Amino acid sequence: MDNYTVIILGATGDLTKRKLLPSLHALLSKSGSKVLIVGAARGDAMVHALLDDAAPFIQKKDDAAWEQLRSSFHYQQLDFTVAKDYVALEKFVCQLEKKYNMSGKRLIYLATAAHFFCTITENLSISGLAKRVEEKDSIWNRIAYEKPFGHDLKSAHEINECIKKYFYEYQIYRVDHYLNKEVVANIALLRFTNIFFEPLWNHRYIDNVQIILNEKIGVESRGGYYDSYGAVADVVQNHMLELLALVAMESPAKLTGDAIRTERAKVLEKVSVVEGFLGQYKGYTQEKDVPVDSTTETFAAFRFAIDNRRWTGVPFYLKTGKKLKKKETVIHIRFKHVDCLLSKDCPSEPNYLTIRITPDATFTLTLNTKKIDKTNEVSPVKMEFCHSCHFGDVTPTAYETLFEEIVRGELSTSVRFDEIEYAWKIIDNVREMKLPLHLYEVGSLGPKAALQDFSNKHGIRWRE
Ligand code: BG6
Repeated sequence: MDNYTVIILGATGDLTKRKLLPSLHALLSKSGSKVLIVGAARGDAMVHALLDDAAPFIQKKDDAAWEQLRSSFHYQQLDFTVAKDYVALEKFVCQLEKKYNMSGKRLIYLATAAHFFCTITENLSISGLAKRVEEKDSIWNRIAYEKPFGHDLKSAHEINECIKKYFYEYQIYRVDHYLNKEVVANIALLRFTNIFFEPLWNHRYIDNVQIILNEKIGVESRGGYYDSYGAVADVVQNHMLELLALVAMESPAKLTGDAIRTERAKVLEKVSVVEGFLGQYKGYTQEKDVPVDSTTETFAAFRFAIDNRRWTGVPFYLKTGKKLKKKETVIHIRFKHVDCLLSKDCPSEPNYLTIRITPDATFTLTLNTKKIDKTNEVSPVKMEFCHSCHFGDVTPTAYETLFEEIVRGELSTSVRFDEIEYAWKIIDNVREMKLPLHLYEVGSLGPKAALQDFSNKHGIRWRE
């Protein structure tokens, strides 16, 4: 039976409670592997309290897995900046690994702010908590860095220069949980294994692409973190640009490993911002840990361009926001109007391919058909593949897949540094534009007047 140790640094944080522990629970419920989990953070926390906090976020509680999680989860206090704490943690982990007869394979998850990445990595290496191991070794040590990786291009470079001194690239997993969502992982497969997409997938047939990541929730208990990043660095720099890369990239040699990262990076290198605007929901400055005079954006809308032969002239519109009307992550690919061969009754609606990521996972093709009457009037209909209807309610969560992929040593679902580098370059340019910030109502679609002006100017109809 395979067995490994997961060490979570930042174990008292929001991510551990909401995502990491629930995903480890799900992994344990699938059985197969023996997992030892060691959490560490600055605070004096109790294992049972951390688990109780995580319990409401577990979707399908399995008694046996919950029991296993309780017995395999341990905690030790650690100050990220104190070297001797890492030595003590290494001793603690070694004792546990010996007691439970573990292999020594370790996955160290940095669920911490990016400004700790360098210090932590250095200390992981010095203390021996993680070792630089050869790729062919059977005992692996892998390190996962939660996003955002830095807060701009310069800081991302500094972090990367630091961490690569201590570990090989194949030990480093820069996390973007969106790449581990089942439907997202399906985009490339859909594009490159169905004959009718590739001939149409270019500027001759695609009119525009919309990538929308709307959220109903606000900043919740993450006001401090969020205010220093804002929507652009929180989700556009990573999740949304990675979605764009998957839609726009050329076909990789295969759908695994570095092949797909190379194609994502190549297209990100060619992306530039054309125009955009920002928003902030009313009441944001009253949120906990947010300064009353904050000008941080909680909403952003952009037009991007891709400077290559395939996408010349095709606008890529990205829009995201918090405290909006509904939660929805969706990609709409709008095809150009058909050269209709009928002299009358040509459809007014273009075809769309819609890739819906949340709340439901679906691919939908909007086609034109005839209405049931004698007028030959055209009506758009939807042909839909619904993931849960077809496969049942078995889709793993993104973080569950993320753990599995790191354990498998699969690199394509984490981000290589050049992708991060190109994405930060785009965002640094966005920041230099000093875009206007508009207030918007909670529960709305965003700043109404600014959205209207943007739509009029670009002749775009947001599909919501
Ligand atoms: C995280 C952001 O990376 O993604 C959050 O930090 C955001 O602010 C979240 O809410 C959205 O992810 P998902 O999977 O809920 O769409």
